[in-house]
Amino acid sequence: MTDSEAVTFDEVSIGFNGNPVHEHINFSVETGDSVTLLGPSGTGKTVILKLIVGLLKPLGGKVQVFNQNISSLDEEELQQIRARVGFLFQGAALFDSLSVYENVAYPLRERGEKDEQRIEGLVIEKLKLVGLDSKRSQYPAELSGGQKKRIGLARALASEPQLMLFDEPTTGLDPTSARNIDSLIIRLNEEHGMTTISVTHDIESARKISKRWILFADGEKKADGLARELEANDPAVRDFVTGNWRAEL
Ligand SMILES: Nc1ncnc2c1ncn2[C@@H]1O[C@H](COP(=O)(O)OP(=O)(O)O)[C@@H](O)[C@H]1O
Ligand SMILES: [Mg+2]
Repeated sequence: MTDSEAVTFDEVSIGFNGNPVHEHINFSVETGDSVTLLGPSGTGKTVILKLIVGLLKPLGGKVQVFNQNISSLDEEELQQIRARVGFLFQGAALFDSLSVYENVAYPLRERGEKDEQRIEGLVIEKLKLVGLDSKRSQYPAELSGGQKKRIGLARALASEPQLMLFDEPTTGLDPTSARNIDSLIIRLNEEHGMTTISVTHDIESARKISKRWILFADGEKKADGLARELEANDPAVRDFVTGNWRAEL
């Protein structure tokens, strides 16, 4: 592993109640990369994102984030790593009783930020980035699904993470909102130099937001490489993308 790796999975195994989910998987994501994880439902894509933020621990092998083995960290060290990682969870809920502004400010207040000017600067900057600065005084109930997702993203960005994890960011959104989220993910990577790891079932989104894909199925990594090469040449990826996935592959 080199210094330029944001995330490395080294022979990682994890399962629940004796049922394996991943067995001895290996992959790494370079700093500045934009990678999409693909795979049928239940193959452990969300589990991989949770392993990266230390919400789950591997049963075997090593998960390294910014060159640190997250299993060997104490709670304080883990918090320091987590502060560098933003996570847009599937169905990430906003706090209904807080304004858009306070939702985005929340992680800053939680980490003990007291400087109101600094908070305001960051909140407005992130709201502008997602194109919703005009909604700062509104409440979540007044927003569309796509707008809520973008506020969730602004909230994740408020802590200025170096690595962003997206779990099915376009699921449930209309096509315009979905493409809007794609554009934001691309901008974060290309203009802000953020490393992004996304999970999606939306192939159009996967094609747009990342040059590299990793396909998981049956507890294994089935493919890993340049998306357009995999789509052209890899039978497993082609079957997955065209909806002809067979369980025995
Ligand atoms: N905390 C948990 N406890 C028990 N089983 C879990 C837990 N998290 C995930 N699983 C199981 O692990 C498998 C992979 O889940 P998940 O990562 O959510 O799949 P995906 O995101 O690829 O659809 C599923 O069978 C799921 O039920
Ligand atoms: Mg999932």
